[in-house]
Amino acid sequence: MSYATLALARENAVAILTFNRPEKLNAINRQVLVELHQALDALAADAGVRAIILTGAGEKAFVAGADIAEFTALTPVAAVQFGGDLGSAAEKIARMPKAVLAAVNGFCLGGGCELAMGCDFIYAAENARFGQPEINLGIIPGSGGTQRLPRFVGKARAKELIFTGDMIDAQEALRIGLVNRVLPLPELLPAAKATAAKMAAKSGVVLGLAKAAIEEGTATDLASGLALEAKAFGLTFSTEDKREGVAAFLEKRKAVFQHR
Ligand code: COA
Repeated sequence: MSYATLALARENAVAILTFNRPEKLNAINRQVLVELHQALDALAADAGVRAIILTGAGEKAFVAGADIAEFTALTPVAAVQFGGDLGSAAEKIARMPKAVLAAVNGFCLGGGCELAMGCDFIYAAENARFGQPEINLGIIPGSGGTQRLPRFVGKARAKELIFTGDMIDAQEALRIGLVNRVLPLPELLPAAKATAAKMAAKSGVVLGLAKAAIEEGTATDLASGLALEAKAFGLTFSTEDKREGVAAFLEKRKAVFQHR
């Protein structure tokens, strides 16, 4: 399937999904949202894809937020719908039983930051700028920003970012725990691809269970999370890949996982 606002590439079990409106700094309009949901659904259904990289076209932006030009015509009800559709794309990413990595190359603002935070983790180029600048428009984040940002960086830092609308650079984002790594721009995608390929070589079914345990477990209390983990751990013992992984270790060879 081809898209007007996205580009999709494939390198073995790794898919690279690129926001592709560089002339508008990859801002997310209604068409992008529709295509993003289609692409995420297709990637989720494709058993051959085990890791996904989200990035932006051009050197200036990952995603500079929702398309502000569309805001003038939005009724409150339509705004709830738009925010919900963008938020549910982030949620789809967070719930997908595959590794999803954001490779942030430039501005990562508003809805862009909300989408990046739906990913499992973020690599940033040195030119990356993060922020939730909605307050400057007289609105607040509507697609997870008030919920996910505090979970990444803590309540006080999230409040400062959301109340001031200020942007932070990649080094500051690294310092406060929003991103895992900062790389020179030319090294961003190669590094993201290397990590994605490493994750894609693990058992997809087992990685999916680890992701679910982390996502569902951190959304509840510790005791419930630990109980959830125990069951997911037990479930890994039903997989062919657990048999292969353990056998390979004992036979002193490299495991070859079948993702079953
Ligand atoms: N929605 C719609 N269009 C956007 C956009 C957005 N969120 N972000 C950038 N653009 C457009 C600009 O309008 C401009 O289009 P034009 O060339 O047709 O005028 C183009 O992208 C380039 O942006 P420009 O502002 O000229 O680049 P810059 O380097 O001077 O500034 C930013 C970059 C990111 C600081 C600035 O574009 C900005 O503040 N964008 C809005 C960020 C935002 O508030 N996001 C949250 C939305 S809820």
